[in-house]
Amino acid sequence: MVWHMEAITAQNLTKKFNSFTAVDGLSLEIHEGEVFGLLGPNGAGKTTTIRMLACIISPTSGTAQIHGKEITKDPTAVRAMVGVQTESPSLYERLTASENLEFFAKAYGMEDPARIRFRIRELLEFFDLWERREDRVAVFSKGMKQKLAIARAIIHDPPVLFLDEPTSGLDPESSKLIRDLILKLSRMEKRTILISTHRLEDAERICNRVGIILRGGLKVAGTPEELRNRVAGEAKVEIRILGSASDYVRSVEGVPGVSGVEAKGSELVVSTGDPGLTTPDIVRRVVEDGGQILSVRPSLPSLEETYLRIVEGMRG
Ligand SMILES: Nc1ncnc2c1ncn2[C@@H]1O[C@H](COP(=O)(O)OP(=O)(O)O)[C@@H](O)[C@H]1O
Ligand SMILES: [Mg+2]
Repeated sequence: MVWHMEAITAQNLTKKFNSFTAVDGLSLEIHEGEVFGLLGPNGAGKTTTIRMLACIISPTSGTAQIHGKEITKDPTAVRAMVGVQTESPSLYERLTASENLEFFAKAYGMEDPARIRFRIRELLEFFDLWERREDRVAVFSKGMKQKLAIARAIIHDPPVLFLDEPTSGLDPESSKLIRDLILKLSRMEKRTILISTHRLEDAERICNRVGIILRGGLKVAGTPEELRNRVAGEAKVEIRILGSASDYVRSVEGVPGVSGVEAKGSELVVSTGDPGLTTPDIVRRVVEDGGQILSVRPSLPSLEETYLRIVEGMRG
């Protein structure tokens, strides 16, 4: 039997704030070791979902399990297994990096000073902050604060980590640093990571699977590639030709399976349902008409285009 250990499962998770439903019957399954991206526009319910899964707020109805433990029945066990980094970094600006971690280690019930010191050193080295351990957080850059906030979230070594918009407000360089770190946390430490983001770039680069959340419900989930295929049907093939591509628009227009042709300088952009099927015919026509082909490149929609099309489809 193939056994897939589920790290996070939720069934019909619902949260109402008075009469307003912020999360509406959300169900999901996240496998152990996965980096799962919860994608959705502002107000979709990402933070509320994370707060319920991490036992910060309780659901109005429905339930969820972390490694089999019920969030509603066994919150103490759940809290011990999850680390949470929320939207605003909850660090003490006036304390140093090490003092911050020490504070949270104690808050998590760690008592042995030697063990605390060891854990702090291990984390600060992993996050490349060891040299800055005696600096107050107030003087840290946004990126450094974010790294420390993630270190803080895993002080008690939880197998499951929730990161709520971990790159929001960061410049491209710090965002990349955080993305690399998340990958490192996943690959080297095998943690299960649920990250919420409205940045498709993050999801595309670090998530094994993504789910799109809209108006409190998870609409679709799958690998970025699976989601792309859902909205494919409009793939493109880009053909670079020696000379002007406009001479070959006619050649390609009649090929079965081709729905549109555009010439952009020396590039012929062909819209087609299934490039795997039509590309040989397209190439043959161009060659037959005397075209000298320099390159042929299929271009799938980006996750961003995919996401926008799915979101528009749901709204429409
Ligand atoms: N404590 C609260 N009281 C009332 N409404 C809330 C509360 N928290 C969130 N909401 C509402 O629930 C919806 C989802 O919010 P949130 O989960 O923060 O979305 P996201 O993180 O995807 O931007 C929003 O409309 C938000 O205004
Ligand atoms: Mg949020």
